Amino acid sequence: MTNRKALIAGNWKMYKTGPQAAELATRLKSLVSDVTDVDIMVAPAFTALGVVAEILKGSVIHLGGQDLFWEVEGAYTGEISAPMLKAAGCTYVIIGHSERRQYFGETNATVNKKIRAALLEGLIPVMCIGESEAERESNQTFSVVQKQLEEGLQGLTSDEAQKLTLAYEPVWAIGTGKTATTDQAQEVHEFIRKRVETAFGNSVANTIRILYGGSVKPENISDLMAMADIDGALVGGASLDADSFAAIVRF
Ligand code: 13P
Repeated sequence: MTNRKALIAGNWKMYKTGPQAAELATRLKSLVSDVTDVDIMVAPAFTALGVVAEILKGSVIHLGGQDLFWEVEGAYTGEISAPMLKAAGCTYVIIGHSERRQYFGETNATVNKKIRAALLEGLIPVMCIGESEAERESNQTFSVVQKQLEEGLQGLTSDEAQKLTLAYEPVWAIGTGKTATTDQAQEVHEFIRKRVETAFGNSVANTIRILYGGSVKPENISDLMAMADIDGALVGGASLDADSFAAIVRF
């Protein structure tokens, strides 16, 4: 991390009903109420957005969606649009999470459409990229990440790219307890920043935040945050417990 303000984001995935999410948000809000040097975001399930938004009103914690559909409205049963997330109180939206790519057919092309839809509505996309275990083992990490970046961000202007947050989440480190080593993570983060510089210029590359995700815990966050190109974390499991998420926020 350099002069970029850190962002610690909690992805609650398909955990927590409305009442459970309300309890977690209430506890978290009191634990981090004095934090001003780090941006904080939580992304509950869609059904909990309303209740969590109410609780977080006036707090330092921002709200995010876990996904969206790129159309503004229409006959798309089961989908949620950017204006719906915005009206529910979201300022961020996670896009292209590896679980969406793996189980729900998300591709770099759909990620690109979703990023544009989020930007049009003034939401901050948190675009997720990262290689699988097989891809890492066959030395394809950089080519996979490069393709995800190129295709996911295709056609964006520098002004648009400036508004993004990126999240590098090696798939083999998600929910497995296997964190990438700080050097493994830094190496890919640095590569990502260089690609952003090539595509969008020096100023975007210097200001864009690149989060690390994959088994982030209170025990490993400070070492990760000490790396030059790691600007925050996208936390799954450890964000479901208010104390451990608050400890991560206070890295
Ligand atoms: P874990 O922190 O549970 O490994 O999940 C990471 C993740 O996928 C965050 O989006």
